Amino acid sequence: MSLALYVKQPWKTLYLTFQALTLVLVVLPICAVKYLFTRPNPTWSWRHAMRVALTRRLNLIGVVLGKVPFDPDYRAIEFGPGVEGVWMDGVPHLMNSQLKIWSSVANVTSIRIPGYWYAKTGVNPKPPTPIAAGQKVFLILHGGGFTHMSAHPKSPISIVPRSLVELTDDAPYALSVEYRLSSTYPFTEKHPFPTALLDALTGYNFLVNVTGYDPSDIIVTGDSAGGNIALALTRYLVENKGSTELSLPGPPGRLLVISPVTDMSNSHVTPGSSTLTNDKDIINDFYINPYDTPYRVLAYLGPFGAGIAWCNRYVSPASLSPLVQARFVGFPRTFIISGGMEVFLDQIRSLRDKMVRDIGETQVTYYEAADAEHDYFVFSWHPDRPATLKALQEWLVSGWDLQPRL
Ligand SMILES: *[C@@H]1O[C@H](CO)[C@@H](O)[C@H](O)[C@H]1NC(C)=O
Ligand SMILES: *[C@@H]1O[C@H](CO)[C@@H](O)[C@H](O)[C@H]1NC(C)=O
Repeated sequence: MSLALYVKQPWKTLYLTFQALTLVLVVLPICAVKYLFTRPNPTWSWRHAMRVALTRRLNLIGVVLGKVPFDPDYRAIEFGPGVEGVWMDGVPHLMNSQLKIWSSVANVTSIRIPGYWYAKTGVNPKPPTPIAAGQKVFLILHGGGFTHMSAHPKSPISIVPRSLVELTDDAPYALSVEYRLSSTYPFTEKHPFPTALLDALTGYNFLVNVTGYDPSDIIVTGDSAGGNIALALTRYLVENKGSTELSLPGPPGRLLVISPVTDMSNSHVTPGSSTLTNDKDIINDFYINPYDTPYRVLAYLGPFGAGIAWCNRYVSPASLSPLVQARFVGFPRTFIISGGMEVFLDQIRSLRDKMVRDIGETQVTYYEAADAEHDYFVFSWHPDRPATLKALQEWLVSGWDLQPRL
């Protein structure tokens, strides 16, 4: 699809009108009848199959829009009832020389950005200071292909922090980072790698240095593209631990990645791989051309070009490229979630294998929901959510003696 034509008026309105009309008048009615007889997965209910069909289509429309309209972004805190936004200072003093070089190529620097607090039901979202000793906290990097969505509570992706803070009274708060989103042609070229990593570091430093959490009490969390950023942040903290040059906080106590994007190099796009066989997933750009580089990857890799994905462990930690060979020694205890029907399944399994190799089986919990699509965790209606939340709760309260919230 040539995106360039459709982002300008009047083509944009025409295109969106056409998409909306075909969706309502053609696609959904056809699916509605077809799914009475056969569904992409026999275990899916009719409603489930319809929701996947709708999400696939909306994802495509989202690319043409550039970002979700009306979503808040890093430039301002959007206040509202129950919204607890905070400004977090940039961390140029925490950048090592490698990060400075990448930032220079990307023409970005670390700046002040917002974060949004979440808390379990009935509690003010902002944790009272001083922080109770040993209290755990989630640092959230939201999904949305590096190009979409927001950390703001009104974004649908905020279901991630909202659900997590309910699991145990000992981890009652989450801070979601309003990192800068990437874009590229036909939109303005903005905020490529390592911008999101810089902003994630800002959020992490805020939790440790301003709010007063101990790094070992932080659970770095991300879904989809946010999972990629969570892995990059953790890697940066692990690789630079004990650096005499930087006064970096230590690595987090835990890592939680939900359908993480772990290979932008296409090294997993081989005959028979999940990228090609899981073609009923909600991610549909592979369906258009599996060998193409998707917009989100082009936007995130910006001036580096897609080639950097074949040689950079911060971009493609699970890549099979011999130039990456990422190590995970020093990584914390990790929980990895995947959907058995998602295009990224194979790369997420590679991540699991690499982590098990380097930190041992007991440190890595892998949860694969056999009949689920990409990032199924963010869909409140999803039948695999309750069991996943239960497994997460068990992981969350084990190993550091916390009590589950009943
Ligand atoms: C780098 O970014 C600044 C704004 O942050 C802009 O004024 C400048 O033109 C950019 N330089 C290049 C080479 O793109
Ligand atoms: C901690 O925060 C203060 C105030 O924002 C800042 O001046 C200081 O450099 C920070 N220290 C670290 C290690 O980030």
